[in-house]
Amino acid sequence: MLRPEIKTELPGPKAKEWLKKDKRFISPSYTRSYPAVLERGEGVWIYDVDGNRFLDMTAGVAVLATGHSHPEIIKVAYEQIKKLIHMSGTDFYYPAEIMLAEKLAEIVPGAQNRKVFFGNSGAEANEAALKLARYHSKRPYILAFIGAFHGRTYGAMSLSGSKSIHHKGFSPLIQGVIHVPYPDPYRPPFGISGEEVADAVIDYIENVVFKKLVDPEEVAAVFFEPIQGEGGYIVPPQDFFRKLRKLTSKYGILMVDDEVQAGMGRTGRMFAIEHFGVIPDIVTVAKGIASGFPLGAMIAKSSLMDWSAGSHASTFGGNPVSCMAALKTIELLEDGLIENAEKMGNYLIDNLRNLMTRYDFIGDVRGKGLMIGVDIVKDRKTREYNPELRDRIINETFKRGLLMLAAGPSAIRWAPALIVKKEEIDVALEIFEEALKTVTKRRR
Ligand SMILES: Cc1ncc(COP(=O)(O)O)c(C=O)c1O
Repeated sequence: MLRPEIKTELPGPKAKEWLKKDKRFISPSYTRSYPAVLERGEGVWIYDVDGNRFLDMTAGVAVLATGHSHPEIIKVAYEQIKKLIHMSGTDFYYPAEIMLAEKLAEIVPGAQNRKVFFGNSGAEANEAALKLARYHSKRPYILAFIGAFHGRTYGAMSLSGSKSIHHKGFSPLIQGVIHVPYPDPYRPPFGISGEEVADAVIDYIENVVFKKLVDPEEVAAVFFEPIQGEGGYIVPPQDFFRKLRKLTSKYGILMVDDEVQAGMGRTGRMFAIEHFGVIPDIVTVAKGIASGFPLGAMIAKSSLMDWSAGSHASTFGGNPVSCMAALKTIELLEDGLIENAEKMGNYLIDNLRNLMTRYDFIGDVRGKGLMIGVDIVKDRKTREYNPELRDRIINETFKRGLLMLAAGPSAIRWAPALIVKKEEIDVALEIFEEALKTVTKRRR
């Protein structure tokens, strides 16, 4: 069984040279939490420029559904590269893009009469959904949730509400976005208990937002993540989306389901909304869709896609290599990886919950499939965020060769590739606990 292998100090000598250059030439807006300078990957293993081996529980921020450099993804991408690298679906037709659209239209919840718009990223997919929702409905307002993350372009950024730094210095944002609290059962808004949070949020939308701020007939859509990602891996109550569907149907408001992080098998279903038994009007996907090749897709009911030629497009959107990688990714997901995500996710979450009995600074362990958040708190009773301790834990795991990332104010996210094996999870858990022990000693 492979284990991480750290042969140099971190960062190592070669990494240090790259970090110097990075500082000089790369935008300082990125949010790197530790100095990992990476060179090649295989499965859930990744090697840095100094030859150190790390176990990757981030999958490149929940992107590499099939792991690093899956041989079948390499094969289809190479075959496609030899034939056609680019021709722009905006102005030309090619089979890869049409085949992928047909497949997505078939697997998306609701699955009848869907059309697909392709971009290159999650932000672009959400941007397209926002434009289509306004175009089709002729309504100006949009609802979105506090804690949401939908991307960095102006429209997607305006929909987001997870960190004020994402907005700082960029105003004016686009007009017409109204943020409402997300039904977080662990830290419920409105000072109520976790069980009542779904009703409280629906009531707030209907009786505060729709009565005091905006007439519901002027609201085009509500954007939501079925499980909030960047906001802290937050799973809403089981009945929330059904209640939201009832409310939106009453007023003809579109439901836009952002599956960019939670979709493509990660939660143990192809789309995370399948856990909640609701059919959205528009679904956006990116990240895991093409195993690391850039691709975003906005899948909408055909009846909504009434925009005219020229109203929206993207030069690189639906790149043939990305599309072929996506078709193979979906095939691998359907052939066992979604099932593995559910199985390994259950195993991982049980083991992480066990850790709660030994470490009182773990306030909550939550998630579905391989989208799991471990919330680090100052005090279990007050549930106060503990970002400093969270960051220290992540640094300790890095030093031991385990790559992890933060999510939200004080959660650690577990988002490995869906190919992960039980033995690899065991190694990760062992190192994670070593890091927890180390920070416990220092707290004393
Ligand atoms: C739920 C969600 N939507 C949208 C995005 C934006 O995707 P991208 O960075 O590809 O633009 C992200 C990225 O983290 C995300 O998690």
